[in-house]
Amino acid sequence: MAFDHLPEALQQLANKSLLRARSVVADDYDAVIKVDDRHYINFSSNDYLGHRQHQDILQSYVEGLSRYGAGSGASPLVTGHTTCHQALEDHLAEALQREAVLLFSSGFAANQAVCQALLQSGDTLVSDKLMHASMVDAAMHSPANFLRFKHNDLTHAEAQLQRASGNVLCVSEGVFSMDGDCADAAGLAALCQQHDAWLMLDDAHAFGVLGDNGLGSVEAYGLNQQQCPIVMGTFGKAIGTGGAFIAGSQVLIDYLLNHAKHYIYSTAISAAQAKATLTSLQLMQAGGARSQLQANIAYFKQLAQAQDLPLLPSDSPIQPYMLHNPEQALAASAGLKAMGLWVNAIRSPTVPKGQDRLRITINATHQTKDIESLVDGLVMMRAKLA
Ligand SMILES: Cc1ncc(COP(=O)(O)O)c(C=O)c1O
Repeated sequence: MAFDHLPEALQQLANKSLLRARSVVADDYDAVIKVDDRHYINFSSNDYLGHRQHQDILQSYVEGLSRYGAGSGASPLVTGHTTCHQALEDHLAEALQREAVLLFSSGFAANQAVCQALLQSGDTLVSDKLMHASMVDAAMHSPANFLRFKHNDLTHAEAQLQRASGNVLCVSEGVFSMDGDCADAAGLAALCQQHDAWLMLDDAHAFGVLGDNGLGSVEAYGLNQQQCPIVMGTFGKAIGTGGAFIAGSQVLIDYLLNHAKHYIYSTAISAAQAKATLTSLQLMQAGGARSQLQANIAYFKQLAQAQDLPLLPSDSPIQPYMLHNPEQALAASAGLKAMGLWVNAIRSPTVPKGQDRLRITINATHQTKDIESLVDGLVMMRAKLA
Protein backbone atom coordinates (compact mmCIF):
# COMPACT_ATOMS: atom_id res chain seq x y z
CA MET A 1 0.00 0.00 0.00
CA ALA A 2 1.22 3.53 -0.81
CA PHE A 3 2.76 5.38 2.16
CA ASP A 4 2.15 2.50 4.56
CA HIS A 5 5.27 3.50 6.50
CA LEU A 6 3.50 6.56 8.02
CA PRO A 7 1.96 4.91 11.14
CA GLU A 8 5.28 3.23 11.95
CA ALA A 9 7.15 6.55 11.55
CA LEU A 10 4.74 8.23 13.99
CA GLN A 11 5.07 5.36 16.47
CA GLN A 12 8.86 5.69 16.38
CA LEU A 13 8.62 9.38 17.25
CA ALA A 14 6.26 8.56 20.13
CA ASN A 15 8.68 5.89 21.43
CA LYS A 16 11.43 8.53 21.62
CA SER A 17 9.18 11.15 23.30
CA LEU A 18 9.52 13.22 20.13
CA LEU A 19 5.95 13.13 18.80
CA ARG A 20 4.50 16.60 18.32
CA ALA A 21 0.87 17.53 19.00
CA ARG A 22 -1.09 20.76 19.29
CA SER A 23 -3.13 22.21 22.13
CA VAL A 24 -6.36 24.01 21.28
CA VAL A 25 -6.43 27.49 22.79
CA ALA A 26 -10.02 28.47 23.56
CA ASP A 27 -9.35 31.94 24.96
CA ASP A 28 -6.39 34.24 24.89
CA TYR A 29 -5.97 37.62 26.52
CA ASP A 30 -2.64 39.30 27.31
CA ALA A 31 -0.61 36.73 29.22
CA VAL A 32 -3.47 34.33 29.98
CA ILE A 33 -4.66 31.44 27.80
CA LYS A 34 -7.48 28.96 28.31
CA VAL A 35 -6.91 25.37 27.22
CA ASP A 36 -9.26 22.44 27.99
CA ASP A 37 -11.28 24.64 30.38
CA ARG A 38 -8.27 25.66 32.46
CA HIS A 39 -6.50 29.01 32.56
CA TYR A 40 -2.73 29.32 32.38
CA ILE A 41 -0.22 32.14 32.51
CA ASN A 42 1.36 31.94 29.08
CA PHE A 43 5.18 31.87 29.03
CA SER A 44 5.42 30.51 25.46
CA SER A 45 4.12 33.32 23.26
CA ASN A 46 6.37 35.42 21.01
CA ASP A 47 4.04 38.41 21.46
CA TYR A 48 6.90 40.11 23.34
CA LEU A 49 5.34 43.60 23.43
CA GLY A 50 1.78 42.41 24.04
CA HIS A 51 0.70 44.13 20.82
CA ARG A 52 -1.73 41.41 19.66
CA GLN A 53 -4.48 42.81 21.85
CA HIS A 54 -3.60 46.51 21.65
CA GLN A 55 -6.77 48.54 21.03
CA ASP A 56 -5.18 50.87 18.44
CA ILE A 57 -3.89 47.92 16.42
CA LEU A 58 -7.26 46.16 16.55
CA GLN A 59 -8.95 49.42 15.50
CA SER A 60 -6.64 49.69 12.46
CA TYR A 61 -7.48 46.11 11.57
CA VAL A 62 -11.21 46.91 11.69
CA GLU A 63 -10.78 50.02 9.53
CA GLY A 64 -8.71 48.04 7.02
CA LEU A 65 -11.28 45.26 6.93
CA SER A 66 -14.19 47.61 6.33
CA ARG A 67 -12.37 49.49 3.56
CA TYR A 68 -10.48 46.69 1.75
CA GLY A 69 -12.25 43.45 2.72
CA ALA A 70 -11.11 40.32 4.48
CA GLY A 71 -8.37 39.23 2.11
CA SER A 72 -6.16 40.81 -0.55
CA GLY A 73 -7.76 38.71 -3.26
CA ALA A 74 -4.63 38.34 -5.40
CA SER A 75 -0.87 38.12 -5.44
CA PRO A 76 0.96 41.47 -5.11
CA LEU A 77 1.88 41.67 -8.81
CA VAL A 78 -1.77 41.26 -9.80
CA THR A 79 -4.08 43.41 -7.62
CA GLY A 80 -3.03 42.40 -4.09
CA HIS A 81 -0.73 45.39 -3.40
CA THR A 82 -2.69 48.31 -1.92
CA THR A 83 -1.92 51.73 -0.49
CA CYS A 84 -1.74 49.99 2.94
CA HIS A 85 1.00 47.63 1.75
CA GLN A 86 2.89 50.49 0.11
CA ALA A 87 2.62 52.68 3.22
CA LEU A 88 4.01 49.84 5.37
CA GLU A 89 6.92 49.24 2.99
CA ASP A 90 7.71 52.97 2.81
CA HIS A 91 7.58 53.34 6.59
CA LEU A 92 9.92 50.41 7.14
CA ALA A 93 12.39 51.54 4.49
CA GLU A 94 12.62 54.99 6.03
CA ALA A 95 12.88 53.71 9.61
CA LEU A 96 15.57 51.14 8.76
CA GLN A 97 17.37 53.56 6.40
CA ARG A 98 17.14 51.12 3.52
CA GLU A 99 16.27 52.00 -0.08
CA ALA A 100 13.34 49.62 -0.32
CA VAL A 101 11.29 46.92 1.40
CA LEU A 102 9.25 43.94 0.18
CA LEU A 103 6.48 42.33 2.23
CA PHE A 104 6.10 38.54 2.47
CA SER A 105 3.31 36.40 3.86
CA SER A 106 5.67 34.84 6.44
CA GLY A 107 9.26 34.84 7.62
CA PHE A 108 9.54 31.25 6.49
CA ALA A 109 8.63 32.30 2.94
CA ALA A 110 10.96 35.32 3.04
CA ASN A 111 14.01 33.25 4.04
CA GLN A 112 13.24 30.61 1.44
CA ALA A 113 12.69 33.28 -1.21
CA VAL A 114 16.03 35.00 -0.64
CA CYS A 115 17.89 31.69 -0.83
CA GLN A 116 16.00 30.49 -3.89
CA ALA A 117 16.21 33.77 -5.79
CA LEU A 118 19.79 34.81 -5.06
CA LEU A 119 21.89 31.65 -4.83
CA GLN A 120 22.97 29.63 -7.82
CA SER A 121 25.29 26.72 -8.44
CA GLY A 122 28.86 27.77 -7.54
CA ASP A 123 27.65 30.33 -4.93
CA THR A 124 27.93 29.75 -1.17
CA LEU A 125 25.63 30.18 1.78
CA VAL A 126 27.61 30.57 5.03
CA SER A 127 25.42 30.21 8.10
CA ASP A 128 25.53 30.10 11.87
CA LYS A 129 25.00 26.50 12.99
CA LEU A 130 21.85 27.43 14.96
CA MET A 131 20.15 29.14 12.03
CA HIS A 132 16.37 28.68 11.81
CA ALA A 133 14.85 25.74 9.89
CA SER A 134 13.42 28.07 7.21
CA MET A 135 16.96 28.95 6.11
CA VAL A 136 18.55 25.53 6.64
CA ASP A 137 15.77 23.88 4.63
CA ALA A 138 16.24 26.42 1.81
CA ALA A 139 19.99 25.80 1.84
CA MET A 140 19.47 22.04 1.61
CA HIS A 141 17.34 22.52 -1.52
CA SER A 142 19.67 25.08 -3.08
CA PRO A 143 22.32 24.20 -5.68
CA ALA A 144 24.72 26.53 -3.81
CA ASN A 145 27.41 25.23 -1.43
CA PHE A 146 26.37 25.30 2.22
CA LEU A 147 28.98 25.97 4.93
CA ARG A 148 28.07 26.32 8.59
CA PHE A 149 30.11 27.93 11.36
CA LYS A 150 30.00 27.10 15.07
CA HIS A 151 27.38 29.12 16.88
CA ASN A 152 28.49 32.76 17.30
CA ASP A 153 32.12 31.82 16.57
CA LEU A 154 33.64 34.61 14.46
CA THR A 155 36.96 32.77 13.99
CA HIS A 156 35.15 29.79 12.49
CA ALA A 157 32.89 32.12 10.48
CA GLU A 158 35.99 33.71 8.96
CA ALA A 159 37.48 30.30 8.12
CA GLN A 160 34.24 29.35 6.32
CA LEU A 161 34.16 32.70 4.49
CA GLN A 162 37.71 32.00 3.27
CA ARG A 163 36.58 28.62 1.88
CA ALA A 164 33.47 30.06 0.22
CA SER A 165 33.28 30.59 -3.54
CA GLY A 166 31.05 32.47 -6.00
CA ASN A 167 28.60 35.01 -4.62
CA VAL A 168 28.64 34.57 -0.87
CA LEU A 169 25.64 35.15 1.41
CA CYS A 170 26.37 34.96 5.13
CA VAL A 171 23.33 34.52 7.37
CA SER A 172 22.71 34.75 11.09
CA GLU A 173 19.80 35.40 13.38
CA GLY A 174 19.93 38.70 15.28
CA VAL A 175 18.49 37.13 18.45
CA PHE A 176 18.57 33.33 18.29
CA SER A 177 15.10 31.84 18.46
CA MET A 178 15.88 28.94 20.78
CA ASP A 179 18.93 30.17 22.75
CA GLY A 180 17.89 33.82 23.11
CA ASP A 181 21.43 35.13 22.73
CA CYS A 182 22.48 37.80 20.21
CA ALA A 183 24.75 37.49 17.20
CA ASP A 184 27.85 39.66 17.11
CA ALA A 185 26.24 41.41 14.17
CA ALA A 186 28.91 44.13 13.98
CA GLY A 187 31.69 41.53 13.97
CA LEU A 188 29.94 39.52 11.25
CA ALA A 189 29.35 42.65 9.19
CA ALA A 190 33.05 43.54 9.34
CA LEU A 191 34.05 39.99 8.31
CA CYS A 192 31.60 40.01 5.42
CA GLN A 193 32.96 43.30 4.14
CA GLN A 194 36.54 41.95 4.30
CA HIS A 195 35.54 38.83 2.35
CA ASP A 196 33.20 40.48 -0.16
CA ALA A 197 30.17 38.61 1.19
CA TRP A 198 26.65 39.91 1.81
CA LEU A 199 25.41 39.73 5.38
CA MET A 200 21.75 38.82 5.91
CA LEU A 201 20.28 39.12 9.40
CA ASP A 202 17.12 37.21 10.27
CA ASP A 203 15.71 39.56 12.89
CA ALA A 204 12.54 37.57 13.63
CA HIS A 205 13.19 37.78 17.39
CA ALA A 206 15.21 41.02 17.47
CA PHE A 207 12.75 43.24 15.63
CA GLY A 208 10.66 45.10 18.20
CA VAL A 209 13.07 44.11 20.96
CA LEU A 210 16.58 45.47 20.17
CA GLY A 211 17.53 49.08 19.40
CA ASP A 212 16.40 52.41 20.86
CA ASN A 213 13.31 52.39 18.62
CA GLY A 214 12.88 48.62 18.50
CA LEU A 215 14.18 48.45 14.95
CA GLY A 216 16.30 45.42 15.70
CA SER A 217 19.92 44.45 15.16
CA VAL A 218 20.77 47.00 12.48
CA GLU A 219 19.64 49.80 14.77
CA ALA A 220 21.29 48.31 17.87
CA TYR A 221 24.65 47.85 16.09
CA GLY A 222 24.35 50.86 13.75
CA LEU A 223 24.67 48.80 10.55
CA ASN A 224 23.94 50.61 7.31
CA GLN A 225 22.81 49.05 4.04
CA GLN A 226 26.38 48.41 2.87
CA GLN A 227 27.27 46.66 6.13
CA CYS A 228 24.10 44.59 6.24
CA PRO A 229 22.62 44.40 2.74
CA ILE A 230 19.67 42.16 3.70
CA VAL A 231 17.45 42.50 6.77
CA MET A 232 14.60 40.04 7.30
CA GLY A 233 12.06 40.84 9.99
CA THR A 234 8.76 39.21 10.92
CA PHE A 235 5.52 40.73 12.14
CA GLY A 236 4.18 37.60 13.84
CA LYS A 237 6.29 37.99 16.98
CA ALA A 238 6.88 41.33 18.74
CA ILE A 239 4.75 43.22 16.22
CA GLY A 240 1.74 41.05 17.06
CA THR A 241 0.22 40.63 13.58
CA GLY A 242 1.71 38.35 10.90
CA GLY A 243 3.79 38.41 7.74
CA ALA A 244 7.37 39.52 7.19
CA PHE A 245 9.64 41.83 5.20
CA ILE A 246 12.96 42.00 3.45
CA ALA A 247 14.75 45.37 3.49
CA GLY A 248 17.72 46.32 1.32
CA SER A 249 18.79 48.13 -1.82
CA GLN A 250 16.33 49.05 -4.57
CA VAL A 251 18.14 46.62 -6.88
CA LEU A 252 17.78 43.77 -4.38
CA ILE A 253 14.06 44.44 -3.94
CA ASP A 254 13.48 44.78 -7.69
CA TYR A 255 15.36 41.53 -8.24
CA LEU A 256 13.27 39.69 -5.62
CA LEU A 257 10.08 41.17 -7.07
CA ASN A 258 11.02 39.57 -10.37
CA HIS A 259 12.56 36.28 -9.18
CA ALA A 260 11.28 35.31 -5.72
CA LYS A 261 8.66 32.63 -6.37
CA HIS A 262 7.37 32.83 -2.78
CA TYR A 263 6.47 36.46 -3.49
CA ILE A 264 5.28 36.28 -7.08
CA TYR A 265 3.07 33.19 -6.79
CA SER A 266 1.48 33.77 -3.38
CA THR A 267 -1.55 35.81 -2.25
CA ALA A 268 -0.52 39.08 -0.60
CA ILE A 269 -1.19 39.60 3.11
CA SER A 270 -4.47 41.48 3.55
CA ALA A 271 -4.57 45.26 3.44
CA ALA A 272 -6.09 45.19 6.92
CA GLN A 273 -3.09 43.23 8.21
CA ALA A 274 -0.71 45.71 6.56
CA LYS A 275 -2.61 48.64 8.10
CA ALA A 276 -2.64 47.08 11.57
CA THR A 277 1.05 46.23 11.24
CA LEU A 278 1.91 49.85 10.43
CA THR A 279 0.03 50.99 13.54
CA SER A 280 1.92 48.41 15.57
CA LEU A 281 5.26 49.66 14.21
CA GLN A 282 4.37 53.23 15.17
CA LEU A 283 3.51 52.12 18.71
CA MET A 284 6.65 50.00 18.88
CA GLN A 285 8.83 52.97 17.92
CA ALA A 286 7.20 55.01 20.68
CA GLY A 287 8.70 52.49 23.07
CA GLY A 288 6.47 52.13 26.17
CA ALA A 289 5.99 48.38 26.01
CA ARG A 290 9.67 47.74 25.33
CA SER A 291 10.82 49.32 28.59
CA GLN A 292 8.24 47.20 30.46
CA LEU A 293 9.52 44.13 28.60
CA GLN A 294 13.12 44.90 29.59
CA ALA A 295 12.07 45.42 33.23
CA ASN A 296 10.22 42.06 33.21
CA ILE A 297 13.21 40.22 31.71
CA ALA A 298 15.53 41.77 34.31
CA TYR A 299 13.16 40.80 37.16
CA PHE A 300 12.85 37.20 35.92
CA LYS A 301 16.64 36.88 35.59
CA GLN A 302 17.21 38.32 39.06
CA LEU A 303 14.80 35.82 40.67
CA ALA A 304 16.09 32.90 38.57
CA GLN A 305 19.71 33.66 39.42
CA ALA A 306 18.90 33.80 43.14
CA GLN A 307 17.54 30.24 42.77
CA ASP A 308 20.46 29.11 40.60
CA LEU A 309 18.14 27.91 37.83
CA PRO A 310 19.95 26.35 34.82
CA LEU A 311 19.24 29.07 32.27
CA LEU A 312 21.35 29.81 29.19
CA PRO A 313 22.88 33.31 29.24
CA SER A 314 20.36 35.59 27.52
CA ASP A 315 19.18 39.17 27.92
CA SER A 316 16.35 38.73 25.43
CA PRO A 317 12.72 37.67 26.08
CA ILE A 318 13.80 34.07 25.25
CA GLN A 319 15.08 32.39 28.43
CA PRO A 320 15.95 28.70 27.89
CA TYR A 321 15.81 26.35 30.90
CA MET A 322 18.03 23.38 29.99
CA LEU A 323 16.93 19.80 30.67
CA HIS A 324 19.01 17.83 28.12
CA ASN A 325 16.58 15.03 27.31
CA PRO A 326 13.09 14.97 25.80
CA GLU A 327 11.47 12.97 28.63
CA GLN A 328 12.60 15.48 31.27
CA ALA A 329 11.57 18.41 29.08
CA LEU A 330 8.07 16.95 28.64
CA ALA A 331 7.78 16.09 32.33
CA ALA A 332 8.85 19.60 33.34
CA SER A 333 6.36 21.19 30.96
CA ALA A 334 3.55 18.94 32.26
CA GLY A 335 4.52 19.69 35.88
CA LEU A 336 4.35 23.44 35.25
CA LYS A 337 0.99 23.10 33.49
CA ALA A 338 -0.39 21.39 36.58
CA MET A 339 0.56 24.62 38.42
CA GLY A 340 -1.20 26.84 35.84
CA LEU A 341 2.01 27.85 34.05
CA TRP A 342 2.22 27.27 30.28
CA VAL A 343 5.81 26.66 29.11
CA ASN A 344 6.39 24.48 26.06
CA ALA A 345 9.07 21.80 25.90
CA ILE A 346 11.42 22.15 22.93
CA ARG A 347 12.99 18.92 21.70
CA SER A 348 15.13 17.82 18.79
CA PRO A 349 15.14 18.38 15.86
CA THR A 350 14.12 21.97 16.74
CA VAL A 351 17.21 22.04 19.01
CA PRO A 352 20.25 19.73 18.71
CA LYS A 353 19.95 16.31 20.36
CA GLY A 354 20.70 16.46 24.09
CA GLN A 355 19.79 20.16 24.29
CA ASP A 356 16.10 19.66 25.05
CA ARG A 357 14.70 22.49 27.13
CA LEU A 358 11.86 24.62 28.28
CA ARG A 359 11.71 27.73 26.12
CA ILE A 360 10.47 30.41 28.49
CA THR A 361 9.40 33.68 26.91
CA ILE A 362 8.84 36.82 28.93
CA ASN A 363 6.62 39.57 27.60
CA ALA A 364 5.55 43.08 28.49
CA THR A 365 2.10 42.02 29.73
CA HIS A 366 3.41 39.71 32.47
CA GLN A 367 2.71 41.04 35.95
CA THR A 368 5.28 40.90 38.74
CA LYS A 369 3.25 38.14 40.41
CA ASP A 370 3.20 36.09 37.17
CA ILE A 371 6.99 36.12 37.06
CA GLU A 372 7.22 35.25 40.76
CA SER A 373 4.81 32.32 40.21
CA LEU A 374 6.92 31.08 37.31
CA VAL A 375 10.13 31.06 39.33
CA ASP A 376 8.38 29.33 42.27
CA GLY A 377 6.99 26.78 39.80
CA LEU A 378 10.41 26.13 38.25
CA VAL A 379 11.95 25.61 41.69
CA MET A 380 9.21 23.12 42.67
CA MET A 381 9.46 21.32 39.31
CA ARG A 382 13.27 21.03 39.67
CA ALA A 383 12.87 19.43 43.12
CA LYS A 384 10.28 17.00 41.76
CA LEU A 385 12.44 15.89 38.81
CA ALA A 386 15.65 15.53 40.86
C1 LIG B 1 14.48 32.90 13.50
C2 LIG B 1 13.20 32.73 12.75
N1 LIG B 1 13.18 32.99 11.43
C3 LIG B 1 12.07 32.85 10.71
C4 LIG B 1 10.90 32.43 11.29
C5 LIG B 1 9.67 32.27 10.45
O1 LIG B 1 8.84 33.36 10.62
P1 LIG B 1 7.25 33.21 10.41
O2 LIG B 1 6.70 32.66 11.68
O3 LIG B 1 6.80 34.59 10.10
O4 LIG B 1 7.08 32.27 9.26
C6 LIG B 1 10.86 32.16 12.65
C7 LIG B 1 9.58 31.72 13.30
O5 LIG B 1 9.51 30.78 14.01
C8 LIG B 1 12.04 32.29 13.40
O6 LIG B 1 12.05 32.01 14.70
